[in-house]
Amino acid sequence: MKKFASLLIAGSALIGCAGLAHAEAEKDAKAISYSFEGPFGKFDKAQLQRGYKVYQTVCANCHSMKFVAFRNLADRGGPGFTDAQVKALAATFKVSETDSKGDTKDRDGMASDYFPSPALATIAGLGAIPPDLSLITKAREGWHGTFNQLLNNVGGPQYVYSLLTGYEDPPKGVAPIEGKYYNPYFTSGVWISMPPQLTDGLVKYDDDTKPTVDQMAKDVSAFLAWTAEPKMEERKQTGLEVLVYLLILAGLLYAVKRKIWAAIH
Ligand code: HEC
Repeated sequence: MKKFASLLIAGSALIGCAGLAHAEAEKDAKAISYSFEGPFGKFDKAQLQRGYKVYQTVCANCHSMKFVAFRNLADRGGPGFTDAQVKALAATFKVSETDSKGDTKDRDGMASDYFPSPALATIAGLGAIPPDLSLITKAREGWHGTFNQLLNNVGGPQYVYSLLTGYEDPPKGVAPIEGKYYNPYFTSGVWISMPPQLTDGLVKYDDDTKPTVDQMAKDVSAFLAWTAEPKMEERKQTGLEVLVYLLILAGLLYAVKRKIWAAIH
């Protein structure tokens, strides 16, 4: 019994140390800014379009984005693709559908379809399951970093940006782990199963923007901020309208109060 207790103590001490070691090595998300920060911030349409391109050419090989439909790309407050562009884009995908007899058939994608997930065969053997990216910028806080990020209520996109640009050689004395990559920005330890993804010029942009690693990481993280909160611009707009309404109402009520009480004063 005594032996068991001391084992338990030694075990928890070990876990505690491991936790400490991690806490030391892990880094906070880099403090970069986006156009959509703050109460008046808006998405940059061109950036969202570039970010989509990065997602589609690189990330979609492993990560699904199953809460986003092709038609969303033409929604107000989004990347601003036209309906015709979305239709053409959807048709380049194959979507499998089960008919009434139970047979599965592939057909061309339509604007109303959701983004298809990568085939299981391609993500098998990666050592971890690539999470769905639709909501990832909301699922990772990232802003235990700077006050500015806390104030502007963003942090998830900074986290994704930092993760993509944050691969490093392991520090001296730390042995490499097979199939894992050293990344101090990763939220669950410093070893991630996702290999580094971006290299300069990997994606060909349709505008004049240079596809550097930094630029692609910014663009794709901005795009993922939009997929996680597609109604952000509407929300901010409504908030502003409500504030203006309340201000006018307050003024009116004050004027009415003065009028009604004028005789008594
Ligand atoms: C070769 C497959 C592959 C590709 C391509 C890929 N990823 Fe990953 N990704 C993974 C795997 C596997 C994980 C799970 C890692 C883990 O838990 O150790 C992951 C995890 C992530 C995470 C979650 C990290 C966390 O905090 O849990 C994010 C964010 C992410 N990837 C973003 C991207 C983006 C953005 C791209 C495109 C630029 C991309 N990935 C491309 C395989 C991939």
